[in-house]
Amino acid sequence: MPAAGSIDTIWDQIAILGDAARATPIADLFAVDPRRVEDFSASLDDLTLDFSKTAISRAALAALLDFARATGLETFRDRIFAGAEINPTEHRAALHVALRAPDGAAMTASLGGKTDDASAYVTLQRDRMRAFVAAVHEGRIVGATGLPFTDVLNIGIGGSDLGPRMVCEALTLVGPTHLTPHFLSNVDGHAFAALSRVLDPARTLVLVASKTFTTQETMTNARAARDWLAASLGDAAVGAHFAAMSTNAAATAAFGITADRVFGFRDWVGGRYSVWSPIGLSVALAAGWDAFQALLDGGHAMDQHFRNAPLARNLPVLLALVGIWNVNAMGSRTHCVLAYDRRLQRFPAFLQQLEMESNGKSVLLDASPSPRPTGPVLFGEPGTDAQHSFMQLVHQGTQPVPVDFLLAAIPDHNRPEAHQILAAHAFAQAEALLAGKSLGTVQQEMRAAGASDAEITAGAPHRVFSGNRPSNMILFRRLDAFTLGRLIALYEHKVAVQGCIWNIDSFDQWGVELGKVLAGRLLPDLTHGTAAAPHDPSTSALITRFRSLRGEE
Ligand code: F6P
Repeated sequence: MPAAGSIDTIWDQIAILGDAARATPIADLFAVDPRRVEDFSASLDDLTLDFSKTAISRAALAALLDFARATGLETFRDRIFAGAEINPTEHRAALHVALRAPDGAAMTASLGGKTDDASAYVTLQRDRMRAFVAAVHEGRIVGATGLPFTDVLNIGIGGSDLGPRMVCEALTLVGPTHLTPHFLSNVDGHAFAALSRVLDPARTLVLVASKTFTTQETMTNARAARDWLAASLGDAAVGAHFAAMSTNAAATAAFGITADRVFGFRDWVGGRYSVWSPIGLSVALAAGWDAFQALLDGGHAMDQHFRNAPLARNLPVLLALVGIWNVNAMGSRTHCVLAYDRRLQRFPAFLQQLEMESNGKSVLLDASPSPRPTGPVLFGEPGTDAQHSFMQLVHQGTQPVPVDFLLAAIPDHNRPEAHQILAAHAFAQAEALLAGKSLGTVQQEMRAAGASDAEITAGAPHRVFSGNRPSNMILFRRLDAFTLGRLIALYEHKVAVQGCIWNIDSFDQWGVELGKVLAGRLLPDLTHGTAAAPHDPSTSALITRFRSLRGEE
């Protein structure tokens, strides 16, 4: 990392380029630059990122690439793959790339000052997982009453839920399904109540997914599942219905899960990067081992691209730089992800943790406050549903909301007409955001439709689209497991690149701690009406009101 002064100068330069970019509508950039589409797109085989519909000029792109180099991005990238301690506030590596590397990859991680043979451990656990999945699918591992498992219930939260849930949904919505997957994350008892209405305990395999095996919500739900199984099948039956994925072997044993049913991973696997680890066991059980392996292969293909492609043709790097441009040069504080694919319904939820837990930071690596905005607020829904809810604001609201569109060229259903309509909407939304609709055009249309002058004066401004709103298009042939793996890894590396440039720790999550501690302190006061912990007046009054509504005060 160069001296702070020179970095500040580069940030200033980017702000100046941002001011200059505001003077030229994005649509006009195509007119002056016939090679814009070609040069502001990059591909990995069939997967293309087109960022030509953003306000990035050639000068800005060159400056951003220089900036990326100046921040030491290439060295940082090497350090990721070398298993170096790139999460300094927790003294950990973030070597999730080892989880999707082929057997024999020989990757090592720095682990508490020692070197961990990451690849050997990954291969060992992967082999154990594969054997377990095969035994369940072939009916060699069955429930306590001898019935084969038909359903798998993953109990976990955050990264121990969002990744496997998103991938299971994407791959099993229309793909082959071995076991029906279910997910229990929320400690809200309604969640378990709903699941226990549809699940048959005798046919349900319960996976407790927790890196730490101490997370309150997960452990509460795991106990509820154990009681539910015991009530139906008897205490002795419970063991046959449980497996766990965790780094905490002592805690899984204390819970009563035998070692042969525990699939381990190391602390260099962050929760939000863990779908590739045994945390993805529900994916392998539901979608099949081949699909899980294809997911890993897709992630690995993106890793190879990220590691080897020049920065100017590197998809994660470019996606990251466009994001930085939108935030730091153009002032966007939000980011919208619209997958025109119902199978990716949970993709925005997954990305929310990935991006906001990783880059929602305001302190730099040297512990000083960040002088500039970092990660934006991310939200999204599948298209076309989104068009009928929040897209109003994206088209006509007062703030710019950059959008990522995702679209498969070939669907996995047999209604080609529906897919053409879906794709037409995806392209049309991006086109509308870019081109907009001028006041003159609106006035003309209203006049042609017979509107009076007064009606035109009052009504036309409401119908104007400013346009000039940025979007990326991520287009690929088909949404299979391999491509889903590439997409996840694309965003993972994007986040890492941004963290490197923003000079923050993308791999810690201290911001989730305070709420957990306060909930622990609050629980006794809520339950017993005590005032053991100090609360602000509003919270104290609300606790009293809550207890009174329950007839406890
Ligand atoms: O929400 C904080 C967090 O630590 C996430 O980073 C993590 O994915 C989640 O909790 C669950 O943690 P665990 O897998 O240890 O139960």
